[in-house]
Amino acid sequence: MAESILSADTGLDAVRALYDWGTYQRATEPVIFDAGSGAWHVFSFEEAERVFTDRKIFSSEFPREVSVNDDLIEGNLALTDPPRHTELRGLVSKRFTARAITELRDEIDTIITGLLDNLSGDTGIDFVDEFSYRLPASVIAHVLGLPRADVPLFKRWSFAQLSEQRTQAVEAEGQHDVARSVLAEMREYFAEQVRDRRANPRDDLITALAHAEIHGVRLSDEELIGFLRLLLTGGDMTTCSLITSAVLCFDGRAGLLDRLREDPGLIPAAVEEVARYRPPFARVARWTTAETELGGVRVPAGQVVLPWLTSANRDERKFADAEEFRVDRHPNPHLSFGRGVHFCLGVHLSKLEAQRALAQLAARFEDIAVRTDEPLRHFDPAGGVLALAALPVDFRARSSSRP
Ligand code: HEM
Repeated sequence: MAESILSADTGLDAVRALYDWGTYQRATEPVIFDAGSGAWHVFSFEEAERVFTDRKIFSSEFPREVSVNDDLIEGNLALTDPPRHTELRGLVSKRFTARAITELRDEIDTIITGLLDNLSGDTGIDFVDEFSYRLPASVIAHVLGLPRADVPLFKRWSFAQLSEQRTQAVEAEGQHDVARSVLAEMREYFAEQVRDRRANPRDDLITALAHAEIHGVRLSDEELIGFLRLLLTGGDMTTCSLITSAVLCFDGRAGLLDRLREDPGLIPAAVEEVARYRPPFARVARWTTAETELGGVRVPAGQVVLPWLTSANRDERKFADAEEFRVDRHPNPHLSFGRGVHFCLGVHLSKLEAQRALAQLAARFEDIAVRTDEPLRHFDPAGGVLALAALPVDFRARSSSRP
């Protein structure tokens, strides 16, 4: 079963197939080895949570020979185990606390207002291009201290990397060079930013990282570049996917925007439910350091383990009416931002962006209808990212639409 899913299409049917796969596996074998992908797949909530939290067995540090074909991974704390992980994360964690992020609220609101004021029309708008990508990319550019004018460049990089992942997954060669050249461009771009901050320090995160020390030693240029790449790419496509998914989840569920408008206190729960229902990372990955037992199955040392959040988040043993989208679900202990030491650094930032976006969208629009004339295309659902490449929508403004 796994093999056919992993080479599946990228439309909504592919996503539905992914969810059906999870339902089937949870009921039959919640942990399986799939020869096609050469990996162990984990479908149940309890086992997925264990993979996140039992970090000594389930390492984030992959041996060089099995890590993705990618040369900007130094300084990437998501691919590093403690103690180095703790040291790297400690350099930025204070900037991303809930309290620190609250201070970005006005900036986020201003960006949202600007984007919505400048929509190119009411119908046939690509919501991804005009809003849901630009918002998080502009916000993370602001946090890092990068020019907002470079957002189209970031979009080209992120989209090329996600397309490349898909291409690798289906073993076509075509786009490989595209991602190579994108990585080379990113390296040069960030190297220049770091050089500039070393010479001209400013009040931004790149300056802070360029001057940061761990035990009296500065990060190498390679680590800095990898770190910045993680912050940019961790911050843009994931939040883009969350906000895009909100529109998709609301489409065809009549009255949901009205409910949020009438009761804005519901917005945080709505964002959590979108994250549960369509996790931007369909799955994450770990590497076993020792043989272990998982869900009644022996998993040897030196194996790739892939917990599927799409499935764990709909585990009926953890969530009542797990298949239902419930805008006011509470509690909602989904795994979409991870668990344990690698719990998402940007969780407060992305939730605030999504909440403010929903508040303004509900205030301005009676309805946002997803157009059905063209099939929707995801980058690579089976490869682990639930992000749409585009979402054509028609907006119906409210008569008194300014918030
Ligand atoms: C909806 C938006 C987001 C989702 C769903 C998401 C999801 C996740 C998940 C599942 C992990 C854990 C990965 C693992 O354990 O292997 C993670 C880690 C991370 N996220 Fe996010 N993320 C989002 C937004 C952001 C943003 C806006 C940033 C920008 C700062 C960010 C930066 C990071 C970083 C740096 C890590 C690695 C943390 C560590 O290893 O300690 N994320 N994210």
